[in-house]
Amino acid sequence: MAVDNFYYKEEKRKMTERLATTVAGLKLANPTMLASGILGYTGLSLKTVIDAGAGAVVTKSMGLEPRTGYPNPTVVQTDCGLLNAMGLPNPGISHFKEEMKQLKRTGVPIILSIYGYSLEEFVKVAEAAAEMGADAIELNVSCPHIERAGAEIGCDSTLLTEIVKQVKKAINVPVIVKLTPNVTNIAEIAKAAEKAGADAITAINTIKAMSIETETARPLLANKFGGLSGPAIKPIAVRCIYDVYKSIDVPIIGCGGVANWRDAIELMLAGASAVQIGTAIAFKGPEVFSSVTAGIDAYLNRKGFKNLKELVGLAHNH
Ligand code: DHB
Repeated sequence: MAVDNFYYKEEKRKMTERLATTVAGLKLANPTMLASGILGYTGLSLKTVIDAGAGAVVTKSMGLEPRTGYPNPTVVQTDCGLLNAMGLPNPGISHFKEEMKQLKRTGVPIILSIYGYSLEEFVKVAEAAAEMGADAIELNVSCPHIERAGAEIGCDSTLLTEIVKQVKKAINVPVIVKLTPNVTNIAEIAKAAEKAGADAITAINTIKAMSIETETARPLLANKFGGLSGPAIKPIAVRCIYDVYKSIDVPIIGCGGVANWRDAIELMLAGASAVQIGTAIAFKGPEVFSSVTAGIDAYLNRKGFKNLKELVGLAHNH
């Protein structure tokens, strides 16, 4: 019994060591994170994801003022993923203060996703987020269908540089920049963000897309255009992460189509130090976090890797 207990404890210690990762100064017990936009409005829904085993969570993007978002329909299911245009609905950053207080007790890193319509607004929202105890902020400069606040920034390295620089100057919590794949050269944009002071890069946000109903000839989303997520975008995420990895030294958080451990490993082999999961939660529930983590651990163990670091970016050796 005592011997069993020793081996159990030893295995547990090795597993804990294998799965731990540090991204932008944040210590994660495992490399899975909740992606922004899913279950991220309230403290309660974020707590569900934390209880399900996520190593960190990212909130729905918050702005300075409350926003109701677009009219319905805001989500369309396609053959290969979800198409959504919610219109960044959120209660405004100040309304997240109470939720934050509850979440801080969990000890799991809470990353506040923010957006802004101007440089000044980005700085104000970032300051509010830092003040309420966010462990890091993720700049959403990549929403594919919001005028002036989204991908227009993430496509323009000069504008992005200025925002990252000023936000970094204003707060002393880590700043993560979430990039859009809807650009000619994502590595160049990532390099600009890193040069401006970004502590990590999230690659990628959704891809601008559209669906049309054949009988009525109507675009299915009320906003016409939306962001495509899920299995369809995984190969795009892998390519973007691979490209970005070659151009920067700060860590990459992979995002795009992760639904099982193999997807997560693939993004890590391309260069991601952690992975975000979003759309898969809609199909598999929050249990996806523990199943992906268990699968990553079994893979590391089977392949003889002592930790995640040994795996990150390994595809570049070929
Ligand atoms: C929305 C925001 C995003 O950043 C995205 O990728 C897709 C949709 C939204 O709130 O509409």
